[in-house]
Amino acid sequence: MASEKMTEENNVRDQINILKEQLNYHAHRYYLLDDPEIPDAEYDRLFRRLETLEQQYPDLATLDSPTQRVGGQILEHFKQVAHQIPMLSLSNAFSEQEIFDFAQRIDDLLEHENFNIVAEPKLDGLAISLRYEQGILVQAATRGDGQTGEDVTQNVRTIQSVPLKLINNDYPQVLEVRGEIFMPKGGFKKLNEIQLKNGDKAFANPRNAAAGSLRQLDSRVTASRPLAMYCYALGLVEGEHADNPIKTTHSDILQQLQHWGLSVSPEIKRLENCQQCIVYYQNIMQRRSDLPYEIDGVVFKVDSIAQQQKAGFISRAPRWAIAYKFPAEEAITRLMGIDVQVGRTGALTPVARLKPVFVGGVTVTNATLHNQDEIDRKDIRIGDTVIVRRAGDVIPEVVGPVLSRRPENTAPYILPDHCPVCGSVAERVDGEAKSRCTGGLYCPAQRKEAIKHFASRKAMDIDGLGDKLVEQLVEAGLIHDVSNLYQLSLKQISALERMGPKSAENLIQAIENSKLTTLSRFIYALGIREVGEATALALANYFKTLTAIQLATEEELQEVADVGPIVAHHIVTFFAQTHNQEVLTKLLGAGIHWPKIFIKDKDALPLAGKTVVLTGSLAVMARNEAKAKLIELGAKVSSSVSKKTALVIAGEKAGSKLTKAQELGIEIMDEAQMLELFNQG
Ligand code: IVH
Repeated sequence: MASEKMTEENNVRDQINILKEQLNYHAHRYYLLDDPEIPDAEYDRLFRRLETLEQQYPDLATLDSPTQRVGGQILEHFKQVAHQIPMLSLSNAFSEQEIFDFAQRIDDLLEHENFNIVAEPKLDGLAISLRYEQGILVQAATRGDGQTGEDVTQNVRTIQSVPLKLINNDYPQVLEVRGEIFMPKGGFKKLNEIQLKNGDKAFANPRNAAAGSLRQLDSRVTASRPLAMYCYALGLVEGEHADNPIKTTHSDILQQLQHWGLSVSPEIKRLENCQQCIVYYQNIMQRRSDLPYEIDGVVFKVDSIAQQQKAGFISRAPRWAIAYKFPAEEAITRLMGIDVQVGRTGALTPVARLKPVFVGGVTVTNATLHNQDEIDRKDIRIGDTVIVRRAGDVIPEVVGPVLSRRPENTAPYILPDHCPVCGSVAERVDGEAKSRCTGGLYCPAQRKEAIKHFASRKAMDIDGLGDKLVEQLVEAGLIHDVSNLYQLSLKQISALERMGPKSAENLIQAIENSKLTTLSRFIYALGIREVGEATALALANYFKTLTAIQLATEEELQEVADVGPIVAHHIVTFFAQTHNQEVLTKLLGAGIHWPKIFIKDKDALPLAGKTVVLTGSLAVMARNEAKAKLIELGAKVSSSVSKKTALVIAGEKAGSKLTKAQELGIEIMDEAQMLELFNQG
């Protein structure tokens, strides 16, 4: 019995040692190198695991454990600063239930007094304490371990949103203000561009960039970095001004800080109940990607200072506040394999097959790896533990491997030099990111994709001819190219697996119906590289007939707005291929036709010669469709607003382009007015 217990303890000791080693390694990368290797959520998981083991086996808890030191390490180079009032951390909540529990706890602690809550964004930067004496900024210190931080005064003085002198003269003799220093997203993007241009490493995220920028020994470097600060709490206050003593609620204090020239987040709201807290959380989560800075949750605080005091603290966190965190956008999982997909134009796309992982609110099982360069740049290998990121509605991406967890005997991944479907050579043309199968329509994968595209809604719109059916038809050897669709018999279709007689008849009818189309749809359906819906429409409107397009030279094609040299080259190449000419003849022979486009006087079109910009999101009409219609009405559609712009169509959430149009006095329409114009046109 005793020896069994010993072995168990030894096992736990080993586990604890491994966890400590891992946590120290990752804390060093995070706090000292500003270059974390694993997502925060993974660090937290390891940390909690260690905490749990130490709670279960208190004898095994040692003073050198990372659990004994919450927060950052102090760098040698900066002077240390003892915080007279410690800088606290916050308890976290991850579910609505935990917010209800929080409110219930407050209610109990306050013996059922009424209370208000202030909701604030949880800024993803680093905490700082500013000290003003007689209104002058005399010291700025990082949080450090909460008790002692680093003196970064010289660096903080370079931040524009931190006043060097308070305004309005009615401030206390000593005022300590706490807040968050962060790097706005726009500035972060620019900084990383500069870093890469100079051959320096890009920062992983705005928080690391902010931390790295603040810890510069040369404050000129900090001055060149786009940092900002929002204040959210008071520290030590001495010698209050008789005319303007410190206010008694958190929300009023924040107002007061603004009165003294300090910045406060514009998103802060005073709320009355739990339900409003949940709504605030959901609302800001939805707008998260539109905010100009990163946030990782919201913070709820009891508004009344007297009530805060009544509620008190537990160890290092106040009982009167809680951080409701957003679901983690990054997680780690294993890369089980890499599949190679072949697209319509033969492009080979490597796709990561992942061990299913819950991230950003969904389970992710695969993610595109784009191309060879991307895989090389990230050094992603099969068998790696990888970081997967899914932010908002953005498609999931593999950020990179966790090198310290790379198994032995892995090898760099190299895309096959032959098409995995048809075995033809795969080539990579200079200057292109993707390699392509050279099999053309001999390759069943390309054939299937070309047929799916041909039949799709915006092309020939063959109802009922879905992806699965196309695959069946190609695999059964019934279709080699799109023209064979028009030779299919009812008997052949009915013979397919899972195909009822009624569906077969419907399909034959749909194929028949597709024969009457428009010239632009037909051109789009051909699947010429880089010729999307809008380009197809522009070509049809300009040249009016298929023959004219077929005969056009690259120079003539470039007369069409939207068509540059590359697209023009693709078009000419497409029509020059004998195989394509044969298919075209067969398609037209099968009876595909379209109404003639009347040669209208171009100048008579309602938007003739006008440059139009579409911005914001449209609620009713698809963006591409709107663009196509505008072109049809004679407009030149551009993406940037300038003096040359004649009209701006502003959908919902239109931003800087709309503002610019207003400044320039350009005509502006909303979506409804645009639709009205289309109706008239
Ligand atoms: S209040 C007494 N408010 O979160 C409470 N903190 O986990 C002290 N943070 O170190 C913090 N936004 O760096 C507070 N609106 C906000 C915040 C915020 C971000 C950070 C801060 C702090 C950490 C606590």
